[in-house]
Amino acid sequence: MTVIGERMLDLRQVRRVFDTKPWAAHLYVTEQCNLDCHYCNEFNNSIPHPALADLKKWMDHIRKLDVMRLGLQGGEPLKHPDIVEVVRYAKCVGFCKVSMSTNGFLLNRQLLADLEGAGLDELQISVDRMTPIASTRKAMKSIVHKLDWFKDSKVKLNVSGVLFKETLDEMGQVIDTCLDLGIPVGARVVHDDLVHDRALRDASASEPLLRFLEHQEKLKRSGQKIHSTWNLFAYQKKMLRQEPVEWTCIAGYKYFFVSSTGKFWLCSQVRTERHILEITREDLLSYNRKKDCQAGCGVYCTAQASLAVSHPLQYAGREVAGMLASQVSRMRRGKPERIRDLTAAQQDEAPFYEAPAAAASFGSRCQQGNCLR
Ligand SMILES: C[S@@+](CC[C@H](N)C(=O)[O-])C[C@H]1O[C@@H](n2cnc3c(N)ncnc32)[C@H](O)[C@@H]1O
Ligand code: SF4
Ligand code: SF4
Repeated sequence: MTVIGERMLDLRQVRRVFDTKPWAAHLYVTEQCNLDCHYCNEFNNSIPHPALADLKKWMDHIRKLDVMRLGLQGGEPLKHPDIVEVVRYAKCVGFCKVSMSTNGFLLNRQLLADLEGAGLDELQISVDRMTPIASTRKAMKSIVHKLDWFKDSKVKLNVSGVLFKETLDEMGQVIDTCLDLGIPVGARVVHDDLVHDRALRDASASEPLLRFLEHQEKLKRSGQKIHSTWNLFAYQKKMLRQEPVEWTCIAGYKYFFVSSTGKFWLCSQVRTERHILEITREDLLSYNRKKDCQAGCGVYCTAQASLAVSHPLQYAGREVAGMLASQVSRMRRGKPERIRDLTAAQQDEAPFYEAPAAAASFGSRCQQGNCLR
């Protein structure tokens, strides 16, 4: 897409902040996954892939509801045998932006070329560490050679990591590796698992996570390609400090999810048994209200869109202020440029993170075996 095209798209999306129409939907093209990240409750290998014909019907309906952006989710979306056709159809029915999140393991050059040909706009590859461990096998080591393929591709790439105790030690290297390659990258704090009532964040261990968010902010301020908004950093920091945030969650109203069996979910964590084909604009409007799960919500895509809708001026002001600070810093040839610059400066302070015993990393109920799939 040209720069002018992107600006027009941005302007069209700005309208969604002020109108009452839905903005974005995430469609689980499959719930099957080739990995088993311990923090994830979004995969289920016992559910067959949905048929292409069903996915098309659901996309038609989502589009008729006037959704502008479609995120293809999973499970692992690349496991679906018709994924290229799904992307082509999504573009065909008029979603102005079609993105996908993948662990990247099944990506090959031909598939990337086919996804590009089908019109995929953005691909997020999830990478948590340099090397795999039991709780997450999404390692840079496994996919780094693929990042080069995007140099000549129209598909916009970004890399995203999940920040928790067991990824803190190597997340800095993940970020630096991407920045060295010119790839936008960011790490977000792990969110709790509302489905199994697992607390994945340990409130007493928030300090190193906070520090890592601040490191990313410093890089962003010095003009580096950190893939996060200033608002999202501010939100996560408040969440970790358990400070209140005033907002109204737009899940189910302007932002919703559709499962691989066609169920209408408010978000990845709050699920209904209703079928997407019976959902009307009036149903969506009825979800324009605060939710009782807002405190500490870590469904960042929805939380971020909600912040923009709840406080548009404050949201825009924070982004503009951040952008200006970054411009000034760039003119002064801003430093630091890498996480390693920041951690080197910190060597004399407390260690960045002391690795815990692996089993102690998740909530107590998980250790009791309540969350086994
Ligand atoms: C559910 S995955 C599906 C797509 C694909 N399998 C992948 O890993 O990118 C979508 C995104 O959610 C993130 N995710 C899953 N569980 C999470 C959690 N508890 N906290 C934060 N992010 C999480 C993943 O890291 C990934 O970036
Ligand atoms: S985060 Fe993605 S790769 Fe990991 S288990 Fe969940 S769906 Fe699979
Ligand atoms: S507050 Fe968070 S968890 Fe609750 S419905 Fe909204 S996005 Fe989902």
